[in-house]
Amino acid sequence: MTTPEQQHIQKQQVAQAALKHVRSDMVLGVGTGSTVNCFIEALADSGKRLEAAVSSSEASTRLLESHGIEVRDLNLAGTLDLYIDGADEFDAHRRLIKGGGGALTREKIVTAASRRFVCIVDESKKVSVLGKFPLPVEVIPMARSFVARQLVAMGGQPELRQNFSTDNGNVILDVHNMDLVDPVRIEKQLNNLPGVVTNGLWAIRPADLVLMASSSGVIEI
Ligand code: A5P
Repeated sequence: MTTPEQQHIQKQQVAQAALKHVRSDMVLGVGTGSTVNCFIEALADSGKRLEAAVSSSEASTRLLESHGIEVRDLNLAGTLDLYIDGADEFDAHRRLIKGGGGALTREKIVTAASRRFVCIVDESKKVSVLGKFPLPVEVIPMARSFVARQLVAMGGQPELRQNFSTDNGNVILDVHNMDLVDPVRIEKQLNNLPGVVTNGLWAIRPADLVLMASSSGVIEI
């Protein structure tokens, strides 16, 4: 069991390890969350100068710009070589749950627009079966109750994230106790529900590489 302090050190270690995948002069996709914040700080200290970043959230945009890194609209950037982001859970197949920070929609778009996704996590995120972490689902506000009923029919227990609105003006339903033994099937099923903008499963397109910080160093999965 790692303490919050050890966890923060692991986030810094994995952020540092991710730097070797970053080339100066590239346009880099940048995710969201506390691990990515460590990565942005490490990048700023590294002396590498990106051509620009494509950001997955307003929060990451603010941090990138505070370090003088240009944030470029994805529409102007084309296909990206690399996306770096954290996750809330990952399994041995590099399938993920994301969206704990509520940035899942832009994160999934930037993932899809990138040739390679390197996911940076500490060892607390590792699971054998996805689903201990409640699955975030971003929903158009008028569809909230309808989608919640469908999620119950699928065996989950949706809970409205309180006092939260996404960067896109939508709400999040955090779904507890959903059976995610077959995450590809569930991801597709959720994608088909009218009113669902994005679900937090990265199973159809998992990470290409997971860098996991552990007590014995950073491990590549
Ligand atoms: C943001 O919406 C999430 O997908 C994050 O990538 C995820 O929550 C990981 O965040 P931490 O690095 O803060 O754990």
